[in-house]
Amino acid sequence: MRLRHHVNPLGSSFHEFRGDMPQLDGNREIELEVGCAEAQFLFERAVKDPSALYLGLEIRDQMAQWVNRQARSRGLPVHAVFCNVNNHLREIVPACSIQRAFLNFPDPWFKERHRKRRMIDETLARDLYHILKSGGEVFFQSDVWDVALDAMDVFERLDDLYNNRAGSWSFWKKSNPYGVRSSREEYCEDTGLTIWRLWYNRK
Ligand SMILES: C[S@@+](CC[C@H](N)C(=O)[O-])C[C@H]1O[C@@H](n2cnc3c(N)ncnc32)[C@H](O)[C@@H]1O
Repeated sequence: MRLRHHVNPLGSSFHEFRGDMPQLDGNREIELEVGCAEAQFLFERAVKDPSALYLGLEIRDQMAQWVNRQARSRGLPVHAVFCNVNNHLREIVPACSIQRAFLNFPDPWFKERHRKRRMIDETLARDLYHILKSGGEVFFQSDVWDVALDAMDVFERLDDLYNNRAGSWSFWKKSNPYGVRSSREEYCEDTGLTIWRLWYNRK
């Protein structure tokens, strides 16, 4: 299958939600990855604990379809939804329903001229607050310093909503606590790139 590497989230075709609404079972914990790509992180989480539901949001429709075919053939509770997380999060995910939200290497848009396309902004952080359970977790990782600094700035300014587990204005210095790796994370670790991590709890 040939897939586009990047699509512009500001494109008019991403204004309306055109994906399929996920069936969410309120009795299961739900973990969410925004910009999941092929969802390696979620598949590995699902292997470790198949009792939860793993929801991936992805702006490339064909990629979301591929994830869903994989989930069916592997019999794992992973489901991907084609959407633009910057426009559709509250439409897709009920309030106070998510236990953990993962923002793994969210952006291919690290150049200054593409800053407007970046995924993490105040609106997204507020939308995440809306869908997370009280005490729920937000875990962010990036190998791009500017993107990581921007993300920290967004969450730290919302200190009435989020508590930084590493202390205010600090990156999480230890390793990824979830015991699984996203595909980009695996590449960064294998090639020795620095990874910047943030770990918050919803207040
Ligand atoms: C750099 S990749 C990282 C993929 C995966 N999380 C990982 O760590 O390997 C970023 C992913 O986010 C998706 N993406 C970018 N902007 C998005 C948006 N506004 N809504 C949903 N997905 C988005 C891209 O299509 C891409 O699959």
